[in-house]
Amino acid sequence: MARIVVGVSGASGVILAHRVIDVLTDLDHHVELVMTRDAHFTALEEMGEDFATGVKFVKSFSEEKQTRIRLHGIQDFTAPIASGSYQVYGMLIIPCSMATLAAVATGLSDNLLRRAADVTLKERRPLVIVPREAPFSEIHLENMLKISRYGATIVPPIPAWYTQPKTLQDVENFIVGKALDAMKIESDIYPRWTGSMRR
Ligand SMILES: Cc1cc2nc3c(=O)[nH]c(=O)nc-3n(C[C@H](O)[C@H](O)[C@H](O)COP(=O)(O)O)c2cc1C
Repeated sequence: MARIVVGVSGASGVILAHRVIDVLTDLDHHVELVMTRDAHFTALEEMGEDFATGVKFVKSFSEEKQTRIRLHGIQDFTAPIASGSYQVYGMLIIPCSMATLAAVATGLSDNLLRRAADVTLKERRPLVIVPREAPFSEIHLENMLKISRYGATIVPPIPAWYTQPKTLQDVENFIVGKALDAMKIESDIYPRWTGSMRR
């Protein structure tokens, strides 16, 4: 099974990070988790006190799943994921704030999440970014184009209505499933289009 870096920044949608870790650990993958300081604020606002630190976030998973999650400090540049010599399959930044997006687009490696993304690009490993903002400014759009040209895949957290989502969880599963598809990691968490049944 693969080692995947999951970077969580302070954009809205921290539940997407929780869901992706849940799915990856279900699939027996190993998660190298790094969360920014502001990700803890969004976790507090959007998921509550029980998720508001990195340790609490990890503890919210079953004990078995916790053995497949390694939490790194945001300023710990001695962490293995700060080096290209440490073998990982790739990295997801989910959700990705516009601040983290700008840092990655310019190679600004001033925290471990940004450094890990820089390493992922330089090693030409899969990098999937789930940027959350509305509306996007031209700066945001240019940064996305830049990173896409450097080899990353941009997967916006946008639902599809043809899957007939009934709950927010259906929408979250679709977004997480699309991000995993972009990583070329097999999952089966959203209904795939197999042709219309109406014709
Ligand atoms: C509740 C809350 C929601 C936020 N949502 C977003 C967002 O969706 N997109 C974004 O770019 N920034 C958002 N921000 C602002 C970022 O947290 C802020 O720009 C921060 O500097 C990002 O830093 P980071 O990328 O290191 O986490 C939000 C902040 C808070 C408190």
